[in-house]
Amino acid sequence: MSQKNATDQQSAMNQQSSEFDSLVPVAMIVAMAKNRVIGVEGKLPWYLPEDLKFFKRITQAKPLVMGRKTFTSIGKALPNRLNVVVTRNAAFSHDGVRVCHDLPAALALADQQATIEAAEEIMVMGGGEIYRQALPFAQRLYITEVDIEVKGDATFPDFDPSGWQEVQRVAGQPAEGQPRYDFVVYERIAD
Ligand SMILES: NC(=O)c1ccc[n+]([C@@H]2O[C@H](COP(=O)([O-])OP(=O)(O)OC[C@H]3O[C@@H](n4cnc5c(N)ncnc54)[C@H](OP(=O)(O)O)[C@@H]3O)[C@@H](O)[C@H]2O)c1
Repeated sequence: MSQKNATDQQSAMNQQSSEFDSLVPVAMIVAMAKNRVIGVEGKLPWYLPEDLKFFKRITQAKPLVMGRKTFTSIGKALPNRLNVVVTRNAAFSHDGVRVCHDLPAALALADQQATIEAAEEIMVMGGGEIYRQALPFAQRLYITEVDIEVKGDATFPDFDPSGWQEVQRVAGQPAEGQPRYDFVVYERIAD
């Protein structure tokens, strides 16, 4: 990306982030390879049951925000929490999900629900396009850092490590033949 495009994108994000002020903190949850790859042809690049359990535990009873492609790859609403799907398609609908046509609207809806239910945080759960747009709003990142490089077509955005503090790192317990991975939590350092 050229310097000008990067600056334009950053100022668009700054403008967008002023359009949404959450009561409840926004968190993002992702499993990412060393080269930042998170997905390939609409699927996860790996099968890590322990990470799926971690995802289920951390997102339990918290509103979820996801892109339409991530929703399509799962195929159904995840139970026991609000599922908000972001799409530009005005005709999109699916049982068990709320649909929004831009990210600030999706975060606002999730924020309202989280406030009513006293949920600790809103969980942005991908994919790459949505992580990129939601990063300026995020206060906490749950990243499963998978110790492999894989080819893929979806990535997690590069974030400036000086703006984030690692507050937790727990080694996963991969089964034989699985890559090593750590469950890492980062919190945004206040300005
Ligand atoms: N490793 C992980 O933890 C993880 C987590 C989640 C997903 N993934 C992977 O990531 C991949 C999917 O990521 P992706 O980047 O391709 O897609 P995505 O972010 O899941 O969804 C992109 C879609 O969201 C909608 N969208 C995006 N920005 C929008 C906006 N500003 N306003 C309205 N709608 C908007 C559009 O839907 P329409 O096309 O319908 O308009 C767009 O095509 C899959 O391979 C999935 O398995 C991995």
